[in-house]
Amino acid sequence: MSTAKKEYKRVTVQSLMEMKKNGEKISMLTAYDYSMAQIVDNAGVDAILVGDSAANVMAGFETTLPITLDQMIYHASSVVRAVDRALVVCDLPFGSYQSDPKQALRSAIRIMKESGASAIKLEGGKEIKNSITRILNAGIPVMGHLGLTPQSINKFGTYKVRAKEEEEANKLLEDAKLLEELGCFSLVLEKIPADLAKRVAESVSIPVIGIGAGGGVDGQVLVIHDVIGMTHEFNPRFLRRYMDLHTEMTKAFEKYRDDVKSGGFPNENEQY
Ligand code: KIV
Repeated sequence: MSTAKKEYKRVTVQSLMEMKKNGEKISMLTAYDYSMAQIVDNAGVDAILVGDSAANVMAGFETTLPITLDQMIYHASSVVRAVDRALVVCDLPFGSYQSDPKQALRSAIRIMKESGASAIKLEGGKEIKNSITRILNAGIPVMGHLGLTPQSINKFGTYKVRAKEEEEANKLLEDAKLLEELGCFSLVLEKIPADLAKRVAESVSIPVIGIGAGGGVDGQVLVIHDVIGMTHEFNPRFLRRYMDLHTEMTKAFEKYRDDVKSGGFPNENEQY
């Protein structure tokens, strides 16, 4: 049974804002390649994030820092080719926007031009205010990202819940309001207390999409490899697995190996 309240033929940044206004929750998943994005889009998920988590789940890096702008463009263009309906948002990777607003704009333009994504996402608040303004002034929709910002892992030292203390919570709330004021169309909140996330969502008019931020926000995003159980050793409390693909795939590959070894594959109907 579909729970969508309004049919969107093509989801735009305006659609997401409308969903918040109408009280319709926003569904978002990551995807990094053509085949997966096609399935996500066909399933009617509203938005696809080409996240820099590609560095982890696609390339096997421990952090998101190593992925390059060229690699993000490659992933995003593969996703865009698959999608008919969902809004495609692409992360600006670490090192592609922190130097200055000009560098940030150049990187955002490359993503829009070379991948065909409809919006970019970047991590941070006040400290990257000028870069966000510069990108927005070029007509590029920007999604913010506050709370646990994995590109700053070396500053934080851990991937634990952020903004539990009042000072950090207040800064986060101020940053969220600033992002709204600057003109960001949406905001991701990662791994923060649910009551704080709810307060943020109630304090801004733009959609707030949470990951590990509770149910009081306007939508949810998860990393697709976690949702389908490919990253079976990653088990944060906030994650709901909808499949155990790791186990299923292992069984299938073992069966294939055994069939090849035994000469059972291919049979006479599987040859020319
Ligand atoms: O890169 C990513 O997948 C993300 C999500 C965790 C929000 O930024």
